[in-house]
Order: sequence, then structure tokens, then C-alpha cells
Amino acid sequence: MHLKLRSFSSFLALASIFALVQAPLSSQAAGDKKLEVFSWWTSGGEAAALDALFSTYKKQYPGVEIINATVAGGGGSAARPVLQTRLAGGNPPDTWQSHPGWELLGQYVEPGYCEEVTELYKSDGWDKAFPKGLVNLMTKDGKTYAVLVGVHRGNVLWYNKKLLQKNGITIGDKLDFDGFFAACDKLKKAGIPALGVGDSGIWTSAQLFENTLLGVVGPQGWSDLFSGKMKWDDPQVKKAMGYFAKMQDYLNSDHSALSWDQAVGALMEGKVAFNSMGDWAQGEFVKANKKPNEDYGWVCHPGTDGSFIIVADGFTLAKGAPHKEAALAWLKSIGSKDAQEAFNPLKGSIPARTDVDKSKFDAYHQWSMNSFANSSLLPSCVHGEAAPAAFQQALNDAVTAFIVDKNVDSFANALVQAAKESESTK
Ligand code: GAL
Repeated sequence: MHLKLRSFSSFLALASIFALVQAPLSSQAAGDKKLEVFSWWTSGGEAAALDALFSTYKKQYPGVEIINATVAGGGGSAARPVLQTRLAGGNPPDTWQSHPGWELLGQYVEPGYCEEVTELYKSDGWDKAFPKGLVNLMTKDGKTYAVLVGVHRGNVLWYNKKLLQKNGITIGDKLDFDGFFAACDKLKKAGIPALGVGDSGIWTSAQLFENTLLGVVGPQGWSDLFSGKMKWDDPQVKKAMGYFAKMQDYLNSDHSALSWDQAVGALMEGKVAFNSMGDWAQGEFVKANKKPNEDYGWVCHPGTDGSFIIVADGFTLAKGAPHKEAALAWLKSIGSKDAQEAFNPLKGSIPARTDVDKSKFDAYHQWSMNSFANSSLLPSCVHGEAAPAAFQQALNDAVTAFIVDKNVDSFANALVQAAKESESTK
């Protein structure tokens, strides 16, 4: 982002933000010493990481009572409707979790629920610390609306290393669909459900499809699909649907009763071998003290080597935030190196800042940071970045139907229709 010459009024705005975030919050009015943070971070790894953000904030800004407003349910499937009701009712939390792209700009900025935080990027030198491409995904008409705390990778295939070894399966640096299905067959013969899924929230199956789709269409196809150049009934898309259908033959029988983190737990226990999941799964392995490359391993989801599906986590500033000073301080805090170095090792994401101390991160993070720097970076549809909310919902619904009927044509047609409809509401 380029620095523009500041007008006098924006200079004043900058000066007042400085004053707000630098004054000890304890000197503010008693009623202001609260901060409500809204998120869906309730799994073991998520809660531990969120707590690290709170601890950093309390150190930096002592004396503020944090109201931890969480609504359980991975991917925010239950939290986002609750949030919408609060926002529409004029009862916003001070700050809430959001993905960049369509989710932030379409669901929160467009209806006027957010206040810009552009000046923070200037005052704290964040223009240089955060990748410009990511900041652009949170910027509209030159105004930036969120601060990123971490960047998850969506397209990771995790595995129980000991279980695979026991079954004579070795996974190299890359995996293609043939290799993956060969491993699945071997496990199936041994009576082991190869692919662990916990789709009590359907987004996890939608994500399995998203990863598989990328594995077939590649990064160019991904951009073409979301820009409307490639159609959702393209033979390549249908091929991915075919793979996704085949994967259903290798699932754990209790998949629809499990949450995403319970399915990762099943992998740790050796009940299933693989799980295709964003690297918030890494947060669960860390929380359970599992050793990378010993207890568990990872590889890009089949066919997706060289592509990195971004699932970035940011926080907003509510318009009319009840505790605006505390909220600005929160954003300043989560954007700091200290917070990003404390949070991300526990969460599984890599820091959004590129100037952190890399030695504080483990083997998984080293791999992820390295591939972030060398891969095609693509927005996730399942996590609200690549397409409007209506399309994201239509994909979830189409996946729900497909798991039952396995009808590739209806699946493709539903997405063609959804793309048309969301085009007309853009
Ligand atoms: C994503 C979010 C991650 C993680 C995951 C599972 O949408 O970006 O931080 O929380 O959901 O809940």
C-alpha cells in the first residue's frame, strides 16, 4: 500500500488514534475498561491461542476486563448468524473475527458495520510488515478495515505417521490422487477408515471438496472459476466431483456425528489415517503435545502442491463500538510482533507479519512459512473469501445433497445456478 500525502483532517485522525492507543487505558473512564471480543475459537487449540492474545493484550494494556464472546462451531457456522443478528440490531461487539475478501467487505463493510483502521497501518509501520496482497483483501476505496493476526493454510492433508508406517505406507513430499487412493485402498483392506472427516458442520466436507477441486483445476483454474471464466459444470470440475464422491467410500462411519476437532482427535488416536483440514488442526496437535514428523505428518492435499489456500484471520473495529479505545488498543496489540509470535505457534497459522522471529516456530510452521513465500496464494471459498456469502452457502447445501445422491450433474448445475445468482447480487 502506498502512503498518500495526508490531509489535515486525516492527520488529526492519526493524532487522535495515537493518543488513544498510547494513553494507559486505566486512565480512561471506568465504564470504558472493558473489551468484547467475538469469535468462534473454542476448540482446544483455538482457545489456547486466543488466550495467548488476551495475555499479550493484558500485559500491554493492563486493567481492561475482556469479555470473551465465543459461539462454538468450527468455521464460524454458528457464530456468523449470531453476529449478524447483533450487528443488524445495533448491538455490536467491539471487535469480531472475520476473514478478508468477500466476508469482510461484503458482509460487514458494505452494510456499514465497520470503522476503518487505515491509520493504524501508517502509525505502526504495518505497511511494511504485512504483505500488501493481504492488506488489499481488507481494503475498499483506499480504506482498510481489519488487522490480521494469522494466516492459515486450507489445503493440508494430515496423517497419523505411526499408523501409516504400521501399514507399510510412506508419504513423500508430494502426493497425487493415484497415490492417495492407493493408500486408501490398502488401509481399507486392513479394515481402517482411511479418511477422517467430522462433518457435523458441513463446511468440513465442503472444504474436502474445495481442496480436491484445487487439486484438479490448479491455481489458474481456481482464478478462472471465481472470476467466471471457467464454468462450474466444466469437465475438470466434474472430475473433481468424481474424486470427491470416491473419497466418501473411505470415511469413518461416525463422520456426521463428529466436529472437525473430534475428527483430528480420531486421527491422533489412530482410528483414521488421514484428514484434509486447514492448519488449525496443527493447533490441536500442539495442544495434545504430539510430535511433528513423528506422531503426525502432513503433505499438501493431493494435487495441490505449489498452491496455498489462504484462510486468514482478522479482527475488525465496530462502528459504534461500545469500548472504542480498548478496541483500538486490541487491534494494535494483535498486530504487534509479540502477539503474533505468541498466538500463531498455538493456532497453527503463520504470522501475518513477515518480520517475526522465525526461530520461535516449529517444523510445521517452517514448512508453511516457506511454502507461503513460494506458492500461488488463493482465497478460500468455504471460508468466505473468494465468493459472496450466498455462494458459500449454496456450496455447503450442494455438498450436503451430493454426499447423499452422488449425482455429479446436479452438483455441477447447483453451482452453475448459484454462481449466476450471486453474480446478479454483486
Ligand atoms: C476458520 C478460521 C480458523 C479456524 C477454523 C475452524 O474459518 O479461520 O481460525 O478457527 O475456522 O474453526
